Amino acid sequence: MRKLLSSKWLKVLVFLLCLVPVGILGWRAVHGDLTANPIEFITHATGDWTLRFLLITLAITPLRMLLGLPELVRFRRMLGLFAFFYACLHFSTWLVLDKFFDISEIWKDVLKRRFITVGFAAFLLLIPLALTSTAGWIRRLGGKRWQALHRLIYLSAALGVIHYYWLVKSAVIRPLTYAAILAVLLLYRLIAWLANRRRRAPIAQHVPQPL
Ligand code: HEM
Repeated sequence: MRKLLSSKWLKVLVFLLCLVPVGILGWRAVHGDLTANPIEFITHATGDWTLRFLLITLAITPLRMLLGLPELVRFRRMLGLFAFFYACLHFSTWLVLDKFFDISEIWKDVLKRRFITVGFAAFLLLIPLALTSTAGWIRRLGGKRWQALHRLIYLSAALGVIHYYWLVKSAVIRPLTYAAILAVLLLYRLIAWLANRRRRAPIAQHVPQPL
């Protein structure tokens, strides 16, 4: 298993799998099969995939720890960047196909419709994460600061879930399912953090004190 996870080809395969949702959209577009309301269809598909990729990215660390498979970390950056890629498609669909770059309409929507406000905030939060995802930026910021910055992904995912919850009228099951998954992932990280602190505490107590 560990050998398979370290393989270059698996990474290529995962990369290709991540392109499947956009490939299906492209295929349906070429065949005129985007339903009676193509803009809505594309917006929903790309929105769904943004949220799914955010949650998959956040699941990597818990899975790595629970399964004892450190190699899983190789996929985290790619999955996070795919979340950003789908967010860009989602945002561009709204900006270009729905709003036709009409700046005043865009601002009206961002300021007046609460689900757009939080969606917009979720998207903005992803930009610095995508820009600083390289090894060069980890070095420049230092591991601790980089990690702190990249915890914003939890906030972005939470805003994404709220965005979804606020836009549905009655079908709340799906946004609530995403919310439950996010809550489990957050809880896991919190428990792991507390356990880590407790493990370190006795060591700190034994540090010799100056006389
Ligand atoms: C991280 C950022 C975002 C996430 C995770 C996200 C996620 C979603 C999801 C899951 C849906 C519903 C899909 C469905 O019904 O199956 C959706 C719909 C939508 N989103 Fe987003 N979104 C994000 C950012 C944005 C931004 C920045 C905008 C525009 C400023 C936006 C505009 C919309 C619109 C217009 C809809 C369709 C609403 C409707 O059905 O009336 N989203 N989004």
